[in-house]
Formats: sequence, structure tokens, C-alpha cells
Amino acid sequence: MCMISGNDIYKNEIKAQIKEIISHGGLIVFPTETVYGIGADATNKEAVKRIFVAKGRPSDNPLIVHVADKEDVKKYVTHIPFYAEKLMSYFWPGPLTIVFHKNDTIPYEVSGGLDTVGIRMPSSVIAQEIIKAAGVPLCAPSANISGKPSSTLFEHVKDDFLGKVDLLVDGGQVEIGLESTVIDLTTPIPVLLRPGAITKTMIEKVLDIGIIDATEHEISDIPKSPGMKYTHYAPKGHVHLLEGDKEKVIAYINRKAHTFDLMKVGVMAPTEYLKEIDAFYKIDLGSINQTDEIGRNLFLALRQMDALNLTEIFIPALPAKDFGQAIMNRLIKAAGHQVIHL
Ligand code: TXA
Ligand code: MG
Repeated sequence: MCMISGNDIYKNEIKAQIKEIISHGGLIVFPTETVYGIGADATNKEAVKRIFVAKGRPSDNPLIVHVADKEDVKKYVTHIPFYAEKLMSYFWPGPLTIVFHKNDTIPYEVSGGLDTVGIRMPSSVIAQEIIKAAGVPLCAPSANISGKPSSTLFEHVKDDFLGKVDLLVDGGQVEIGLESTVIDLTTPIPVLLRPGAITKTMIEKVLDIGIIDATEHEISDIPKSPGMKYTHYAPKGHVHLLEGDKEKVIAYINRKAHTFDLMKVGVMAPTEYLKEIDAFYKIDLGSINQTDEIGRNLFLALRQMDALNLTEIFIPALPAKDFGQAIMNRLIKAAGHQVIHL
């Protein structure tokens, strides 16, 4: 059996199967609250290498280690900084990855050759049960072929990984839809490496200090996180990411869409925009006031655009604050860092 429902995770025979697969260096695709992950024993180099092959991922891009218990972190790091204690107690289990100095338990295959390791404790109960059943920490990147949008539905991971991994666990649609926030605590001042559902403001409030936002300079500077330098989330079509007043954006799309074959044009936008947009393929991301919903629908919509073989994809930019920062971070990457200012 290579596919199971997330509801079966409590069965003893399933737990035994998970342990068996992971202890033999196998791969399991499973849901987390953020996106689906493709997991292997983080302490087994050969297993880790298989993940890179299955994803087609560059081997210098480090993997996140997932634990089911906060107490386990000390087994994999040289020390736990004070800021980490605080963030773990506020935000774990949950969508926050903390970068620590690693110890020798974590092989360089996991950290992409770095002396640091990103660790998180997911809040997804299915993910937690799988880690517990495995009995080892699981390194798990997002379960998508490298460069494709991360997977938020079981159908996506099935398309990409059936036959390539030992087990796929169906958890339906994930809760958040964007990958975890990544924060580096190996420097004196914490550095935000990837925005997510745990926002910069939330972190600053808990730590009571200002943190450095490395994602602001992602386009021009040397990447702080190896993941920053790769094209991500790119659909096959050309993304036109439009920043400006709602009226201007709507007028631009209505004008520009007609310069292409309309059957090749797609628009993905908040509900409030979509009503006034004249296009054949439109995907409603959710209300502009409900960024949670927009975040959950984002990768799904990008994949739908691909499935329709659309070559021109128009997307209005959103205010890049709070969860909107994470949404815009993914959209800017999807647009190959090109934003059209109107
Ligand atoms: O929500 C998530 O984090 C998902 C689920 C499956 O947990 N995982 C995920 O993994 O998004 P991945 O491999 O697609 O993204 C990991 C990101 C990359 O941008 C990587 O560069 C960064 O985390 N990262 C991991 N370890 C790091 C380290 N030691 N130093 C700096 N960045 C690190
Ligand atoms: Mg990824």
C-alpha cells in the first residue's frame, strides 16, 4: 500500500509501516499545516540524498528538520539561544522554522553544507503522529518538484510523487497554504529569511526587539538563505504582477488582456477585483480583507493556471504587510522578480 488517508495514522499497523519505511531510509509524503512535505530520516545521509533526487533539488539548498517535541531540539543543536526559547514557547507547534547552530547528529547533507540547521515543530496532528511513529526527526522540504509551486492539496503530491516515494499520506487541503516563516537565530540580531504566517510584527512583539528583514533585499544582495537564490513557485505562464490603485490595475488588465489570445489569458485576483475584470479564465483568491484565504488559495491557483496551459497570468499585488508580506514574497518570485508599477 503506498497511499493512506490521514485518518489511518492512529492505527498500529500504519505506525509500524511508517517506522519500517523511515528506518530503511525511505521517503514519506505527508501534510503539515503549511504545505505538504516529503520526509526522510534527518540522521540518515542516504535517505536525505533520496529527497534531493525525488525533488530534483539543488543539493546546497538546506532542508528543514521536523520534530514532534520541543525537548528534542537540544539533541540536534549546539545550544538554544534565549530568543529561540521565547519563540518556541510562543509559536511552537506551528509554522515557524528556527535556524540554530547544528551539532554532529545532523549531517551536512541536510544543512546543504552549512553549520546551521532549520528546525520546526509542526502543529499538524498528522505530521506530529508521523514524526512520532518514525521515532527520528524528519527532514522535509515542500513536496513539489523543485521550482514548481508548493503543494497544498493531496492531488498535487499524488501527481508529482506517486511511484517515487514509499508512502503518500492524504490530509486533504492544508490549513495555511504557504510555507513556514524562517528566522535565523545564529546571529546577534535575528534575521527573517522567509516570511510566513508567523509575521515579522508577531516575532518582534514577542522578542521585544526589531529584527532584520533579509527578504527586503532578496533581489539584489547575496542570498542569506540558500533557498532565496532559486526561482520558486514559477508557473509555466508569464506572470504580470500589477501594483497600483485597484481601478488602475483593473483597467490595465482589461486593456492588456485583449492584446493576447483570450484563451491563453488567466486572471487570479481577490473577489473585489474580479467582478470588474473581463477575462475568460478567472480564479477568485478570496476577499481582499481575508488574507488567510488568499494565502491558502495562492499555490492552488498558480497550479490551476498551469493546468489550463495559460501563457499570460495577471495578478494584482496586495499590501505587503502582515500575512500579506508572505503572499507578496511568493508572488514576486512567481513573477520572476518583475513587478509592474501602475
Ligand atoms: O512550511 C515549511 O517549512 C515546509 C513544510 C513541509 O514544513 N517545508 C519547506 O521546506 O518549505 P523547503 O525545503 O521547501 O524550504 C526550506 C527553506 C529554504 O528556503 C531554505 O533555504 C531555508 O528554509 N533553510 C533551511 N535550513 C536553513 C539554514 N540552515 N539556514 C538558512 N536557511 C535555511
Ligand atoms: Mg520549497
